[in-house]
Amino acid sequence: MKAVQITGWCARFIREQVQPGDICIDATMGNGNDTLLLSSLCGKDGHVFAFDIQEAALINTRKRLMEADAPQNYTLLLESHTNIEHYVDPGTVSCITFNLGYLPGGDHTKATHADTSIAALSKSLDLLQKGGLISLCIYSGGDSGFEERNAVLAWLKELNPHKYLVIRSDYYNRPNNPPIPVLIIRQ
Ligand SMILES: C[S@@+](CC[C@H](N)C(=O)[O-])C[C@H]1O[C@@H](n2cnc3c(N)ncnc32)[C@H](O)[C@@H]1O
Repeated sequence: MKAVQITGWCARFIREQVQPGDICIDATMGNGNDTLLLSSLCGKDGHVFAFDIQEAALINTRKRLMEADAPQNYTLLLESHTNIEHYVDPGTVSCITFNLGYLPGGDHTKATHADTSIAALSKSLDLLQKGGLISLCIYSGGDSGFEERNAVLAWLKELNPHKYLVIRSDYYNRPNNPPIPVLIIRQ
């Protein structure tokens, strides 16, 4: 197996999950890597709603989708993911991606925060269809600090085990606050 970065690790499960025609959400669009992955997997009959609070993220993502000749199956929203429930019906979404932290190469002060991330994650649970997946990449240390990581991990620990399966992976022997990939699966 080749060296596995966190986004590549999560992408394996996203690829297994998303089928043509599915509705998907990228809750943290950034430079559009997850938006592009979801768009290519759900295809012309599916749809991806992608959120970010920075204009730069929409510009970068639109360019990336166009260069990749992605199907016209996406809506890019300059909007906080705390408003996620206004765009899709409960119980209809196959896959939601959260990649916490700041826009790579962008403004580090406009990073995700514990309170808004947990609000959006809570709302996302209701949007998932049965068997639906939330892929969550948690970063900490450096400009990200530890508050968001600690709050999100504490929130995950309390999720009802009869309704949600939470699988946390670890880069167990890696120093310096490695990222934490988490899968939440609605039962
Ligand atoms: C780590 S980046 C995402 C990287 C992205 N997945 C990619 O492929 O490049 C995190 C993004 O979350 C965005 N963000 C921060 N707060 C947000 C909020 N409340 N709603 C939506 N996006 C937010 C930031 O602007 C930033 O672009």
